[in-house]
Amino acid sequence: MFAIEVYNLTKKFGEFVAVNNISFKVAKGEIFGFLGPNGAGKSTTIRMLCGIMRPTSGEGLVGGYSINNQPEEIKKIIGYMSQKFTLYQDLTVEENINFYGGIHGLSSSAIKERKKWVIKMAGLIGKENYLTRELSGGWKQRLSLGCAILHQPEILFLDEPTASVDPISRRDFWDLIYNLSEKGTTIFVTSHYMDEVERCHRIAIIYSGKIIAMGSPKELKKEFTKSEKSTLEEVFISAIEREK
Ligand SMILES: Nc1ncnc2c1ncn2[C@@H]1O[C@H](COP(=O)(O)OP(=O)(O)OP(=O)(O)O)[C@@H](O)[C@H]1O
Ligand SMILES: [Mg+2]
Repeated sequence: MFAIEVYNLTKKFGEFVAVNNISFKVAKGEIFGFLGPNGAGKSTTIRMLCGIMRPTSGEGLVGGYSINNQPEEIKKIIGYMSQKFTLYQDLTVEENINFYGGIHGLSSSAIKERKKWVIKMAGLIGKENYLTRELSGGWKQRLSLGCAILHQPEILFLDEPTASVDPISRRDFWDLIYNLSEKGTTIFVTSHYMDEVERCHRIAIIYSGKIIAMGSPKELKKEFTKSEKSTLEEVFISAIEREK
């Protein structure tokens, strides 16, 4: 059973091909890492899979729904943490959670219950009444993640979720991601931190809009560096050098 299936997905901006005919599948409960240099097409792929940007061609199924024909269905079953901060800066932490709970269609009693969980999970206890703009970068990231999982989505898209998060909080972040994955949530995550990518079940490397490598960290090390002791950084560099 696949949570995500992608067939020949392409996105062009004018003549420029940002995502070039990519295909892959992600199993239910899998943590799938999407790795690639700046401008490779990671965020564009995520936007198409979340049903917020139409592909130029190709198809994707997310939770069985078509990104071309059923984007509204997809929005109900996914959580999306965008690379850009999208919460309301002028609302308090609590007000943002209430607002996102409402957007996701939760009842007020469900919001109350989930809010408690999210505030605890994100380590925001005592900060409920802070204005969002007063939070540090890392705290904002935590609140964004909290709002993205408020409605317990089946599939979670995280676009550089830990940028500017401190190392201890990053570890906590990943503990939570594992926890969600063990309970069956599928996680599609981009990151430039190799230690995080190492923790994914499977990885795809995207370069100039094309997928140039895919497999478990162990498989990729074998394929690209011939040694399981090498680092993913070496895999990444070697995969890209081959394409140049
Ligand atoms: N709306 C748009 N209009 C025109 N070009 C775009 C648009 N969105 C993205 N692009 C271009 O598509 C390419 C891929 O961008 P994308 O944001 O997907 O990269 P990325 O892999 O997420 O990079 P990063 O690691 O920097 O976040 C880039 O060259 C970018 O300039
Ligand atoms: Mg991006």
